Amino acid sequence: MDRLHTVSELRQRLASERRIVFVPTMGNLHEGHLDLLRAGHHHGDCLVTSLFVNRLQFGKGEDFERYPRTLTADCEQLEKQGCHVVFAPDEKEVYPELQQCVVEPSGLQHVLEGAARPGHFRGVATVVLKLFHMVQPQVAVFGQKDYQQCLVVKEMVRQLNLPIDILAVNTRRALDGLALSSRNSYLSVQEREEAPALYRQLSLIQTALAAGQRDFDALEREATNTLDSRGWQTDYIAIRERHRLGKPDPSTPDLVILGAAKLGRTRLIDNIEVTLSP
Ligand code: PAJ
Repeated sequence: MDRLHTVSELRQRLASERRIVFVPTMGNLHEGHLDLLRAGHHHGDCLVTSLFVNRLQFGKGEDFERYPRTLTADCEQLEKQGCHVVFAPDEKEVYPELQQCVVEPSGLQHVLEGAARPGHFRGVATVVLKLFHMVQPQVAVFGQKDYQQCLVVKEMVRQLNLPIDILAVNTRRALDGLALSSRNSYLSVQEREEAPALYRQLSLIQTALAAGQRDFDALEREATNTLDSRGWQTDYIAIRERHRLGKPDPSTPDLVILGAAKLGRTRLIDNIEVTLSP
């Protein structure tokens, strides 16, 4: 496995590769990230992973400074997973000057995560486009855990005619249902015990929908109230249509239930896709 830090080294190393599969990450890897690599293996012959904590997608007062940086352990896991190239640039390599050309991901950046974290998806889309140009992959792999991020990337690829296939991989969970996330390491022991409640509330909505309940507002309100009464600060629990994350009408079949809530200082997100039978 090659560990590279500059764009010119990367370009040289990848120049003769035929089919590159790219997994962008911010490091501090867990089994969820490794699932993306496992899925990626089947889609090409050179697997590239980036490790870069992207300041542009963090808002003021968010956790950019304390985001866990674990380069050595990450590289060990990537090597075991059969990754061919690790790209771990420093900040000056990605942003040598003030980034004034940015990607504005249309309407998607103003709802749900976008509304809760202004500028977040601009930061994500901009760094992902830059990384795509640096790596020039044929396939790029993203996790459904960050549902809206996946949609933003797919929209950017479609609307900017990027010749890249986007592969979306299911969310990896702990046994108690909590979606794996680098941010789970911020949780205290008690918070970690409470954390699966977010997924539980989304699952309860899934069950209610399957049983024919169609009062979406009531389901969202009930889950929000339950979490808040358990000490969470809920940003949103939302039942949306899957493509633009707009409000569905009761006959829309392809839905996703999304949730974001803070437990202490840690903000967790999760989602479940649901297909309603007619
Ligand atoms: P990061 O949070 O490190 O996640 C990297 C990739 O791993 C994303 O595609 C994310 O959706 C996926 N992932 C995280 N947890 C997962 C889980 N439990 N199951 C499956 N996939 C999971 O997302 C980012 O970094 C950044 O925004 C990035 C795209 C790298 C741009 O900076």
